[in-house]
Amino acid sequence: MAIDDLYREYILEHYRFPHNKGDLPQPDKYAAYSNPLCGDRIQMGVHFQDGKVADVRFNGTGCAISQAAASILTDMMLGKTPDELRQIRRDDILELIGPDIGPARQKCALLSLDVLRKGILDEPESDDEELD
Ligand code: FES
Repeated sequence: MAIDDLYREYILEHYRFPHNKGDLPQPDKYAAYSNPLCGDRIQMGVHFQDGKVADVRFNGTGCAISQAAASILTDMMLGKTPDELRQIRRDDILELIGPDIGPARQKCALLSLDVLRKGILDEPESDDEELD
């Protein structure tokens, strides 16, 4: 199987059977953002316990890449402290989604990271690693 096919399978698996999908009742932090190019949206609720992510759920509408990336990112978030969450970089997500996606698809892949960084972690829009 070619490497592109493996990435495609990985994305489709997360799209069809997303991890951590749903609504979290009474989250400690909640945020939602839309991709301005298409209007697709990811909302995320996080529950912290003992300074770490004890539970996270996302919901949203959008393309396979945006929804798969949210599934992958929320898996990465579990058990992490806010400082550790800040260390998740865009390249971490892009490497998992596939190295050869174009700029428009990168926005899809990074939508949920946008929610995490700007909405959950309250990072300023002018981060040195621009998301959009
Ligand atoms: Fe809308 Fe991908 S086309 S997030």
